[in-house]
Amino acid sequence: MSSKNFKIAALAGDGIGPEVMREAIKVLRVTEKKFSFALQITEAPVGWAGIDAASKALPDATLALCKQSDSILFGSVGLPDRDPTIPKEQRPERAALLRLRKEFGLFANLRPVKLPKELASICPLRPERLGEGIDILVVRELTAGLYFGPKSTEEIVELHETTQQPRSYRKAVDTMVITCGEIERIAHVAFQAARQRRRKVTSIDKANILENGALWREVVTDLGKQYPDVALEHMFVDNGAMQLVLRPSQFDVMLCENTFGDILSDEAAALGGSLGMLPSASLGKASAEQMFGLYEPAGGTAPDIAGKNIANPIAQVLSAALMLRYSFGMVEAAVAIESAVGKAIAAGYRTGDIFQVGEAETRKVGTREMGDAIAAAL
Ligand code: IPM
Ligand code: MG
Repeated sequence: MSSKNFKIAALAGDGIGPEVMREAIKVLRVTEKKFSFALQITEAPVGWAGIDAASKALPDATLALCKQSDSILFGSVGLPDRDPTIPKEQRPERAALLRLRKEFGLFANLRPVKLPKELASICPLRPERLGEGIDILVVRELTAGLYFGPKSTEEIVELHETTQQPRSYRKAVDTMVITCGEIERIAHVAFQAARQRRRKVTSIDKANILENGALWREVVTDLGKQYPDVALEHMFVDNGAMQLVLRPSQFDVMLCENTFGDILSDEAAALGGSLGMLPSASLGKASAEQMFGLYEPAGGTAPDIAGKNIANPIAQVLSAALMLRYSFGMVEAAVAIESAVGKAIAAGYRTGDIFQVGEAETRKVGTREMGDAIAAAL
């Protein structure tokens, strides 16, 4: 009998969500047997799948399931083609994903990017730029900043200065709002993560222009004094985007506001091989033993390749590994999944996004075959 039981809400969502989720569950089932713990995995609709099933991107039953679960394994949501059919606030990105992040207070988003040596040729950078390699943890604030500040789109009507004719135009407002408490808690996550790594935090901001950025820099600098063993440096976000492509090996932990982290993590993912390989963990407050979290690939629904068995399931599989590590404390099992992914890549298995024509001893495979190769490597 296994001593550990965990409840997982599996929300596959839209686009490639269902097919990559299937592979992640396949891998979890193998891990479960091997490391003797029990997973109660319940699938529920979210996103457009939720709208089709229950008229809501986050159906009540799905939210209830999440509340009863120990963690959420999330696929991806959003189908831009269908967007015009419903108001913005009801669309899956806001009504399901952002809602879940906020509902569960998941303020800390961890996105580990690592370029496996076998994929060096896939990296868009010239080899001499890679230095000691790419191994970056993007720590993204996830429940504040530009995503969550007051927003509106208004119709403005005014009289033209000279002709006095009325004219109207639309005006859109998004606001970047952050409190020092919100900066502190995400900075703690970054410094603590750095202690498990190479002990360096690069804090990203736009302190030369934004009020947010100035406060961010001040608060992070102060808090950094509590971590004298971790080197802290500050970088403007525009420079950060440039430094990533010039000399990515300088980065260990990148600490970012919500929007900056969204953008830089995609850039970092491309350097790490493919967005299809970037997992993420969204965490809230840590309880004594177990931490509730939402685990999802950082990439989107990729509607253009959905349902064709060509999507890369690795980001979803690695997200499941992060869940075992952070929410269930099953570190050994998490490491086993991560090394199984490494073995499948080393053995030459490549989905289309990481396949290079002419490369010796590699084989282009589909979503399912990649999942099988990872499961077999376990
Ligand atoms: C991500 C995604 C989401 C985000 C979208 C789908 C709303 O791009 O997780 O990075 O912007 O946070
Ligand atoms: Mg993104």
